[in-house]
Amino acid sequence: MGNKKFTVSSFLNAKSKNEKISMLTAYDYSTAKILDEAGVDSLLVGDSLGMVMLGYENTLQVTVDDMIHHCKAVARGTKRAMVIGDMPFLSYHISIEETIRNAGRIIQEGNAHAVKLEGGKEIIDKVKAIVNAQIPVIGHLGLTPQSVNMFGGFKVQGKTTEQAQKIIDDAILLQEAGAFAIVLECVPEKLAKIISEKLTIPTIGIGAGKHCDGQVLVTHDMLGMYTDFTPKFVKKYVNLSDEITKGTHKYIEELKTEEFPAKEHTFGIDEEVLKAIKS
Ligand code: KIV
Repeated sequence: MGNKKFTVSSFLNAKSKNEKISMLTAYDYSTAKILDEAGVDSLLVGDSLGMVMLGYENTLQVTVDDMIHHCKAVARGTKRAMVIGDMPFLSYHISIEETIRNAGRIIQEGNAHAVKLEGGKEIIDKVKAIVNAQIPVIGHLGLTPQSVNMFGGFKVQGKTTEQAQKIIDDAILLQEAGAFAIVLECVPEKLAKIISEKLTIPTIGIGAGKHCDGQVLVTHDMLGMYTDFTPKFVKKYVNLSDEITKGTHKYIEELKTEEFPAKEHTFGIDEEVLKAIKS
């Protein structure tokens, strides 16, 4: 890993060289800076921010303004990684014109380098329009969380012949429409392998097994910060919620016992000033 910016070409080069692409979600400046400096290739400002940052039950209430607000913060903290902004629910379903305007705002105001949209055939005209506007697009197939009410919950997709064939067909359509990568979420590993082998653009898996060209995780899951539930496909690399709880307990205890703040955390004042204000 050098300092060279990770771009659309880097995604395609990585696939051609069989090098895995790393992606994590980020929603704020400080975390983006840490993840970027740690060397992650791409930072997804996912609409999962609705759940992990804002406490919504799902991603449906997230707005374009929310996305721009968080994209801006992430972009400010990022030097090397590619920043991808999710297009939220209904921001690309109404008309081509609105779709281009919303994608354009995420790039122009949010400073993202690319956008991600959920769906295949149904939104293919929107994908083409965004690509024609010179905005790089990542597709998202399988368990697309914005369709949670259609799926009847967050469920693995692509287990039946019909579903699996639709995901394959949609992946090919997205590639033909100009998408430069596709996120495959919660699909069987063998289906993700077939798709990854068929496509010339990289697949980025989340709950889709090891044959994808890259992997993405929600950072709050990977770091053990989101405690509402942990999907089966998540590996927790750190348990930050335990660390935060321990640190908070210690802070409360030390301020009650007056161990904190100590001398080194306080500021002095000249004795003369003190005398003057006392008199
Ligand atoms: O919103 C998000 O974080 C995502 C990932 C789960 C891929 O779309």
